[in-house]
Parts: sequence; structure tokens; C-alpha cells
Amino acid sequence: MSQDVMAAFSLKDKVALITGAGRGLGATIAETLGAAGAKVMVTDIDEATARAQAEKMQQSGMNAAFGQQDVTDESQWEATVAKTVSELGGLDVLVNNAGVETMAFFENCELSDFQNIQNINVTGSFLGIKHCIRAMKPGGPAGQGGSIINLSSVAGKGGYPGLGAYCTSKGAARLMSRAAAKECAVLGYGIRVNSIHPAIIRTEMGNNVIKGWARLGLAESEAEAEALFEQVQPLGYGEPQDIGNMILFLASSASKWVTGSEFLIDGGARA
Ligand SMILES: NC(=O)c1ccc[n+]([C@@H]2O[C@H](COP(=O)([O-])OP(=O)(O)OC[C@H]3O[C@@H](n4cnc5c(N)ncnc54)[C@H](O)[C@@H]3O)[C@@H](O)[C@H]2O)c1
Repeated sequence: MSQDVMAAFSLKDKVALITGAGRGLGATIAETLGAAGAKVMVTDIDEATARAQAEKMQQSGMNAAFGQQDVTDESQWEATVAKTVSELGGLDVLVNNAGVETMAFFENCELSDFQNIQNINVTGSFLGIKHCIRAMKPGGPAGQGGSIINLSSVAGKGGYPGLGAYCTSKGAARLMSRAAAKECAVLGYGIRVNSIHPAIIRTEMGNNVIKGWARLGLAESEAEAEALFEQVQPLGYGEPQDIGNMILFLASSASKWVTGSEFLIDGGARA
């Protein structure tokens, strides 16, 4: 065998920055990469949750730090990347996880809600890609190349009623990943960029989609909406760890020949 298989999945000596990691999928992603040996910078717009998550990880023996970061603010990106490199000694993995959704039909969708979703889900990821490429590329302050993973969604692969603004943002995140992947490869930066596309996971956001489905009249009740999603996902509801595991693969050198790809993690929903 040409390589030690377990070593290829190890993140020992790697540094990972995860946005929106104070709760939900981001918190599990942070723990998963930490458990694989990475030093993890946990950031969130909500400083208290980022701090609590980093402390939880430290108590389990992981190497974690935290920072308050609004992903829509470019100066905060510059400061967070600099803090990560100086406190944790590098930057090898970025997970653009922070995101929001608001459910409404197009005809009722407030312009301010539409713009807020694009600002956090699209502009936030763009700024992350921009500043982490600067840090990771040869000659940058981290300078070792790296892996950037963008949280898109099944809603970035197809349309869903009531989720127009969200679908728009996740479709953009998907093509932004591919464009960045190709550009980094052509420029010889040693930076891979991929997107992942989960179906519904029962985080605060996932539960809000189920509730919104009923509120918009797409199901008669929340219980019916819950059953409906279970039905269209042949393997039932996924768990945050299912997402963490895919991200571990993409963050590690086990995926060194993988870039510009889209990974559905959806219990067979779009099979
Ligand atoms: N849960 C799902 O079913 C599901 C499915 C597909 C994709 N996703 C995507 O996965 C990601 C995480 O989703 P989740 O379910 O954990 O959501 P969540 O709502 O539980 O958590 C989102 C986190 O992002 C943070 N955040 C919000 N705005 C921010 C900002 N401007 N700057 C920094 N942080 C900010 C929040 O404080 C929160 O900690 C999102 O990008 C989401 O679109 C989720």
C-alpha cells in the first residue's frame, strides 16, 4: 500500500477555521476536526457560543481557540485570519459554515430578507475564500496551501418552494466553490475548494425549515411536514456527525485529488 490509510485522514499539525461554529453543524464540524488532531479556531457572530464551544473542546483535550466574527465584515475576516495564524501557528482548512435562511414565497419575500441571506451566505463565503487564499497560498502568512469547504445545501442543487432566497444563495455558493477551485488549481496554489450539500439535519435551522413548511401551508401541520421530509430522505434524517465526517475527508490529505466537486449528503433524497 502506497500510504498509511489512517495517517491520510489525520489532521495532526493542521489548523482549521470554522465559521458559525457556536452551535449546530459548525459545532460538530469543529469537534470532528479537533478529534482528528486539528487545532481549531471556533468563530461565530455570537461570541458567547463560540467561547462555550471552544471551552467544551478544550475540556475534551482538544486544541481550540475562539473568536467573535461576523462573516459579512471584511475587516473582521482580516483580523480573524491574522489571529488564527498567530495563535494557532498556521491555516490549512477553512469551513465556510455560517449561514441563515428565512422562509417565504417569492411574492412575499422582503427585499431586506433576500439581501440579508445573500450577504451572509454568499458575501460571507466570498470574503472567507478571498482572505484564506491570501493566507494559504505560497508566500502567504500560512503558506502551505489548504482545503476550503463551503456549506451549500440540497437547496443549491434544485428548487424548493418557500426557500427561493436561500436556494439563490446556496446555488451561488456552489458555483463560487467551483470557480475558486479551478482558479487555485490553475495558479498552482495547492488549495482545494469543494462544496457539500446536506439535506435536512435537525439543528435550529433544520427545525425552522420544518416549521416554515407548515406555516406556509406546504403541509397541514408541523408533524406532517416532519413526516414528509422523512419520506423524501430514504435513509431518514441525518445527524450533524454525518456532515462532520464528510468534512473531515475533505479537510484531510485523503482527498488530495478532489477539488471543484459537490458532495450530496442527503440520505438518498436526490438519488
Ligand atoms: N441544518 C440543515 O438542515 C442544513 C442543510 C443544508 C445546509 N445547511 C447549512 O449548514 C450551515 C450550518 O447550518 P446549521 O443548521 O448549523 O444552522 P444554525 O442556524 O443552527 O447555526 C448557524 C450558525 O451561524 C451563525 N451565524 C449566523 N449569522 C452569522 C454571521 N453573520 N457571521 C457569523 N456567524 C453567523 C449563528 O450564530 C449560528 O451559530 C449553514 O450554512 C446552512 O445553510 C444546513
